[in-house]
Amino acid sequence: MFSLTETDEWGALQEHYDKIANVHLRTLFEKDKDRFKKYHIKFNDILFDFSKNRIDNIAFKLLIKLAEHRKLKAQIEAMFTGEKINTTEGRAVLHTALRNRPIDEVIFDGKDVMPEVNAVLKKMKNFVRDVHSGKWKGCTGMPITHIVNIGIGGSHLGPAMVCEALKPYSKPGMSVHFISNVDGCDIAETLKQLNPDTTLFLIASKTFTTQETMTNALAAKKWFLSLTGKKDKDVALHFAALSTNTEAVSEFGINPKNMFEFWDWVGGRYSLWSAIGLSIALYIGFDNFEKMLQGAYQMDVHFRKTPFSENIPVIMAMLGIWYVDFFNVKTHAVIPYYQYLKLFPEFLQQLDMESNGKRVSKDGDIVNYSTGPVVWGVSGTNAQHSFFQLIHQGTQLIPVDFIAPIETQCDEQNQHDILLANMFAQSEAMMKGKTEKEVREELSGSGLKGAELEKILNHKVFPGNIPTNTILIKKLTPETLGSLIAMYEHKVFVQGAIWNINSFDQWGVELGKQLAKRILAELGSDNDISAHDGSTNGLLNYYRENNGR
Ligand code: F6P
Repeated sequence: MFSLTETDEWGALQEHYDKIANVHLRTLFEKDKDRFKKYHIKFNDILFDFSKNRIDNIAFKLLIKLAEHRKLKAQIEAMFTGEKINTTEGRAVLHTALRNRPIDEVIFDGKDVMPEVNAVLKKMKNFVRDVHSGKWKGCTGMPITHIVNIGIGGSHLGPAMVCEALKPYSKPGMSVHFISNVDGCDIAETLKQLNPDTTLFLIASKTFTTQETMTNALAAKKWFLSLTGKKDKDVALHFAALSTNTEAVSEFGINPKNMFEFWDWVGGRYSLWSAIGLSIALYIGFDNFEKMLQGAYQMDVHFRKTPFSENIPVIMAMLGIWYVDFFNVKTHAVIPYYQYLKLFPEFLQQLDMESNGKRVSKDGDIVNYSTGPVVWGVSGTNAQHSFFQLIHQGTQLIPVDFIAPIETQCDEQNQHDILLANMFAQSEAMMKGKTEKEVREELSGSGLKGAELEKILNHKVFPGNIPTNTILIKKLTPETLGSLIAMYEHKVFVQGAIWNINSFDQWGVELGKQLAKRILAELGSDNDISAHDGSTNGLLNYYRENNGR
């Protein structure tokens, strides 16, 4: 049985942790004036500063050694070259082929996948061109001005996040909407804003069987057809499908000509680079979509070719492992200081937690170490006024990633300075904290004395020593966003590789789906519900008695 914790490399990290666990970041900075110089990396227009992490030279070297011991290089190659590394589903993991810009061969199952990839990209390009030029018209002859993506999970979060992030690149006159939740309020509120004559629905589902998406897609079709004069044949001009399942797409009534295909070697949460990204291309233009692919490709090259000690995704991942497995950290906050990136934490939640929220190793054993942390966050400065209190003075250690562009895309440069001043201040405050001595000095002129002073003292102390990464992006462009997303994708990959878990399946979503089907049938019957545990029976009967039907 594989045992990560029994390896010499793990043991050496444990031993070193015991020595430096209580060393304060202040001390590390005082001792080493070159820390920033040593612990930051520039990649194109991105600067990654990891100097405010609780590592010294030895810890850094040991973390890199662990990555080497885990044969990370070979594991990276296995992904890029189409080995079936998603072992529980028998699939390759080739989202990198979707952004393989020099179009080198990528052989999977004896066949180069690039001709198919490029054929779909071409089809997307032509479609986007026709919609933007007005050549593609709705059934009443009007051009399309509203794009509605209906999808959930990976078929929603990535495109929604990117469209929000790249709003400054949106095509004039084009708006994009996202419907994901099976809660009928989601679709109802969205449809209120739409005119069917100018709306194009993209039904985005890898499997084309997902309950939420199929329910919303049918509701959208019903809405469309119920409006005066609309016929089944008109559906072809207002509905397209983004899927791997041609049969289900035709069954739904979407013309296969309007289907944009992808393949089972694209994981749902890694699919925004595929046909699932059509809403992005329609919103910001195909040229910008391609630039985003280009930015991701550049990060792929960096990840594949750069030595681990200078490799951003590898370093991010190993630092995460350092905290989760040695400092017993349970959560990791990601705080973008840029409103256009407000959906980035939500996107990362699926990427990271659906990938690495696993407790079984690739060999089928229950692991005896912690794996993926809870990933969470909202944009700054809003975050400062809600949960930063807990990060600064609570009882948990929470590492934070700060992300911000240097240039704002709004006119308010003055406000951008205020925004970034806050971000820099937060990372400094988290690192340094405020000592008891500093608080005493601060209070010395306040008139507080004796017991009164002692009582308030601890409330004003900040322990600090909170590890943070800062990612500064020159400007949030399609290229830099592509690189940023790929950077986190690869971080997640590295952590899964070290933990020896399969980051590419998601069996944990199945049980709830099965039970929901059964419960839905029970809610529709008149019989007393008694087949569940006492709590579930009670809730179901109470719901039925009180839902007014
Ligand atoms: O939540 C489970 C999941 O399978 C995700 O992995 C996926 O992104 C989402 O559902 C949507 O799946 P589909 O694209 O097949 O509708």
